[in-house]
Amino acid sequence: MSQLPFPESFKLVFFGGAGDLVTRKLLPAMYQCHKNGLLVEAGHILCVDRQDLSEDAFLELADEKARHFIPAADWDEAVWAEFRKRLAYLRIDATQPEQYAPLKERLKKAPAAVTVFYLSTAPFLFATICAHLTRQGLNGPNSRVVLEKPLGHDLASSNAITADVDRYFHENQVYRIDHYLGKESVQNLMALRFGNALFEPLWRRMWIRDVQITIAEDVGIGTRAGFYDKAGALRDMVQNHLLQLLCFVAMEPPASLDSNAIRNEKLKVLESLVPFSEADVHEKTVRGQYRAGVSGGKPVPGYLEENDIPPGSHTETFVAIKAEIANWRWAGVPFYLFTGKRLPERLAEIVIHFHDVPHPIFPLPSKSGSCAPAKLVIRLQPDEFIRLYLYAKQPGDSMELQPVSLDLNFAEQFKVRRTEGGYERLLLDAIRGNQALFVRQDEQEQAWRWVEPILNTWAADPKGPEPYAAGTWGPAASLHLLERDGIGWHEGN
Ligand code: BG6
Repeated sequence: MSQLPFPESFKLVFFGGAGDLVTRKLLPAMYQCHKNGLLVEAGHILCVDRQDLSEDAFLELADEKARHFIPAADWDEAVWAEFRKRLAYLRIDATQPEQYAPLKERLKKAPAAVTVFYLSTAPFLFATICAHLTRQGLNGPNSRVVLEKPLGHDLASSNAITADVDRYFHENQVYRIDHYLGKESVQNLMALRFGNALFEPLWRRMWIRDVQITIAEDVGIGTRAGFYDKAGALRDMVQNHLLQLLCFVAMEPPASLDSNAIRNEKLKVLESLVPFSEADVHEKTVRGQYRAGVSGGKPVPGYLEENDIPPGSHTETFVAIKAEIANWRWAGVPFYLFTGKRLPERLAEIVIHFHDVPHPIFPLPSKSGSCAPAKLVIRLQPDEFIRLYLYAKQPGDSMELQPVSLDLNFAEQFKVRRTEGGYERLLLDAIRGNQALFVRQDEQEQAWRWVEPILNTWAADPKGPEPYAAGTWGPAASLHLLERDGIGWHEGN
């Protein structure tokens, strides 16, 4: 993760370049990089898509989305106008070999030191695109390919994608993106763990009681019914984002910031996850599906009433899992993973609960009635902070305790506006050639191997997901998952 030098010139080619992800997230992310002076002058972005758009029409589309999705505080008309000069559009049907000729012409006319092909397309196109790029001589030692999720539907389909891409691009040219790894707080977790000696002796089963990792979303599935109904929350969020966060919490200190040093340690965590039997799936997982409810003060439809969702769909929009890691550091420590759509708020955080004192001598806080243990909260979004909760004596003549927090608020500490998306850092890293924050093939495979028994058991269970009202924290059964271990859900700060 140490900073490699930025190349003197680059070309970034977005396949699916007029699509939602590119116009809503990736171009705004590149704009932020440009605005912060992080791009070299000779850096160009070519958006390739099969939509029949003139360059002007594309720029209008990019403009419209940018105005909508770039936060007002970051929007600068003049800077955007400058950034726009980096953009170009090319209509290509990626399945048609002869249509790659104009792409080749554009790329060869002014060759760049590095060319990054970002495939923001359906995965069934990955092999075709990689094959055509290679045949056109566009796959050289300084070419890279970024693969956007979903990378498969299960282990077999993920391996098939790997094998297809592998025929043309070497693993060191392949960048499997998980945008959660680009979020500052995830890198800060590394800094906290491996840049300070303080936590290391505590970071283990003797001192940590449980870990709760939550990615809650208030939104529903929006216009993505086609994709979402085939995927569900387990494939969409757990197989990738949540397991990656778990890896950063649980990994051993890497020997260096080298890409493979980090990814080797993450792989070991994935390999140590206790596999689920069918009985474990019933006991340690909860899946839910939202029903009509209230979100942001407005009534919202249930999942089954969303456009294009097949009647009676069993796709889960909520998942809770109790995972365990079988190694010396973590044996017996539950890792609770939660994610869902149409929950009360948008929130991503990691909460580490430390064990309670072995012998309490102070009166318990009168309000809570119980002595909750110390905890470390790493908040990823919407705000970013690391907060350590400890007990202090209440002012006055009693010896009653009260939780207080030691706070590291990044926005206040660093006095810079921080963007929370995650794509900025990852796009820059792909251009620089730094794979540390990208998922390696064996990690990808191992994550699928772990979730597959859950997928299979759920698919064979006619009961389907448990309902929860939109705007609530998911099915009650997810709370029981913790409560029966004598653990409470971490609430509020
Ligand atoms: C994506 C999922 O990977 O992550 C979406 O496909 C989800 O369903 C999104 O909404 C959440 O990302 P973020 O950064 O907004 O928390």
